[in-house]
Amino acid sequence: MRAEKPFAPSCERNQGPILEALLRHFAGTHRVLEIGSGTGQHAVHFAAAMPWLSWQASDRTDNLPGIARWRDDAGLPNTPPAIELDVDGPWPDATFDAVFTANSLHIMGWTQVRAFFAGIAAVLEGGGLLVVYGPFNYGGDFTSDSNRAFDQWLKDRDPASGIRDFEAVDALARGIGLVLVEDNAMPANNRCLVWRRTE
Ligand SMILES: C[S@@+](CC[C@H](N)C(=O)[O-])C[C@H]1O[C@@H](n2cnc3c(N)ncnc32)[C@H](O)[C@@H]1O
Repeated sequence: MRAEKPFAPSCERNQGPILEALLRHFAGTHRVLEIGSGTGQHAVHFAAAMPWLSWQASDRTDNLPGIARWRDDAGLPNTPPAIELDVDGPWPDATFDAVFTANSLHIMGWTQVRAFFAGIAAVLEGGGLLVVYGPFNYGGDFTSDSNRAFDQWLKDRDPASGIRDFEAVDALARGIGLVLVEDNAMPANNRCLVWRRTE
């Protein structure tokens, strides 16, 4: 019997608002690399809505079978098979004009967040976009009580996890030549951050 597709209710809730932001920026985008694709729901939803681009899903090994189930069911022409990618490396020997990730930087440890940006420096073309969705702190503080509780829950599970400071992440982004072009408030105290790489 074929295994059920993995399902994350959060993807169902946030994919609409995220897509609105992506549509504002991805009109001229051809090749997107998604890091930490999770269930694969976002990959098929966004690829179906933006048929002019190729959406390359990726994740650590354990998540690849689930992503494949979503991909196979959707049967889209613009979702190549998901690739194994742990930000600690190795990274694909390819370039992309956009990188997307959702709800991953607070799961990774800070060492991995640094590796994420080092890897993007190698694969993101000049003029390309980085879009990051998830919760962030500003000015060293949580933006809501629910984010504070979520951060505690993350740290109880894995002390290396935790909601990241926007300023620290933006400093890593600037370090690889990215300039913040949008910081969108999203439902449930999340943000959708968009950087563009200088040519
Ligand atoms: C909370 S899930 C989010 C999944 C999906 N993007 C979503 O929005 O539902 C965090 C994702 O980050 C991925 N991840 C964690 N550490 C990673 C690493 N070192 N390299 C690549 N992906 C990683 C996990 O495998 C998982 O898919």
